Amino acid sequence: MDQERLLRELSEFLRIPSVSTLPAHNQDCRAAAEWVAAELRRIGCHDVAFLGSDTHPVVWGQGPEVAGAPTLLIYGHYDVQPPDPLAEWTTPPFEPALRGGKLYARGSADDKGQVFCLLKAINSANPRVNFRFLIEGEEEYGSKVLFDLLKREPQRVRADAVLVADMSYVAPGWPAVYTTLRGLCYAEITLRTSKTDLHSGEYGGAAPNAHEELARLLGRLKGADGKINIPGFYSTVKRPSQSELAAWKKLPFNEKDFLKQRVQGKGLVGLKQYSVLERLWALPTFEIHGILGGFTGEGAKTVIPAEATAKVSMRLVPNQKLATVERQLAAAVQRVAPKHLTATVRFLHGADPAQIKIDNPAFKLLDQAFKQVTGRGTVPARAGGSIPVVPALASAGAPVILTGIGLPDDRLHAPNEKLDLKQLWDGLKVFGRFYELLGESR
Ligand code: BES
Ligand code: MN
Ligand code: MN
Repeated sequence: MDQERLLRELSEFLRIPSVSTLPAHNQDCRAAAEWVAAELRRIGCHDVAFLGSDTHPVVWGQGPEVAGAPTLLIYGHYDVQPPDPLAEWTTPPFEPALRGGKLYARGSADDKGQVFCLLKAINSANPRVNFRFLIEGEEEYGSKVLFDLLKREPQRVRADAVLVADMSYVAPGWPAVYTTLRGLCYAEITLRTSKTDLHSGEYGGAAPNAHEELARLLGRLKGADGKINIPGFYSTVKRPSQSELAAWKKLPFNEKDFLKQRVQGKGLVGLKQYSVLERLWALPTFEIHGILGGFTGEGAKTVIPAEATAKVSMRLVPNQKLATVERQLAAAVQRVAPKHLTATVRFLHGADPAQIKIDNPAFKLLDQAFKQVTGRGTVPARAGGSIPVVPALASAGAPVILTGIGLPDDRLHAPNEKLDLKQLWDGLKVFGRFYELLGESR
């Protein structure tokens, strides 16, 4: 393996700012799709197509074909999250930089670096496997294009196994396979208190203030104890079994280290009667991502804002349903909103939680591949994050293998996202070995 060439090629991919949530980057998303398509043709796919969208196409690939061999569908995404705040990056997000054995760039771990690893591992292994690829460009924005495609053409996910590498090890040296993903319900809550903004001297004391109302409303939806006060919200939440909770105690996870090294804050929050892992993996959340409106410019302006918007999301766990939670949130907002204002809730995107049984023989093969390359097999874990289409990928009955070569401190979605090169070089061997084992399995 020519590591220098591989690094050059990965850097090329990472240099494309394929931010799917910002329309200004539509051309870049298209360019990243072209990069993936060229790579698939190079691997030997005889059928490469852009499906569902001109700007954020799903890149489909089929081939090389090996008669009688098992079919493996590889899923990944070429889109990335916005890089802001830019000032906090040591080197610019779309100028990949190597420091101390780590490659820094937006998308290095989530998910371009891992897609790169899955694709390049094919060359070095030359396995007896029929490959199919679905590499999408809208994962970070809810995967609408791919959802619609799979509704029209469900046969695309027919395979003996589906492989997704969009996660990390649970700790350095501890590769994992994931049994659940949380779902997501992303919404904007907007309050309007008057027709226009008002002078806070002329009106202050008698006119309602949209930001004050929003602060109170948000405070009522989730209390200081971490409990989410949306009626019915917890009613279908299924607790992990006692044996699963016991297994988590044996994982290399320490709550104090998590606070000190990962959160790097002063204290943890949430439902104190549950372990931190249970809060991260098996309980739903309510987060405020940002609040818009009012006066935030330089200097001072005495104004009563007429409108305030909060961008919020809830992570969902088995057996919550997105459609139900949307109704519950909309009802809760109307219930707590005072009569003297107008409250609206707009849903941007979402996903049901995913639950994966890991008893198919293919999981054993991945376990063996990791064991042979890294010295340790995969531990079952849960993921706090979401990949919206995973339930749809599982819909034809193929086992969906959720794994990854990242590390927990890769800083996904944050400044200075990175990928450790050791993880990449190991990952190439692991997936190469997995493809070989799969090819030999029939
Ligand atoms: N790769 C992540 C999902 C992930 C992160 C799984 C960490 C497990 C651990 C994925 O790219 C992601 O960020 N998904 C979004 C989906 C959303 C925008 C619909 C997420 O989880 O916020
Ligand atoms: Mn991802
Ligand atoms: Mn992501």
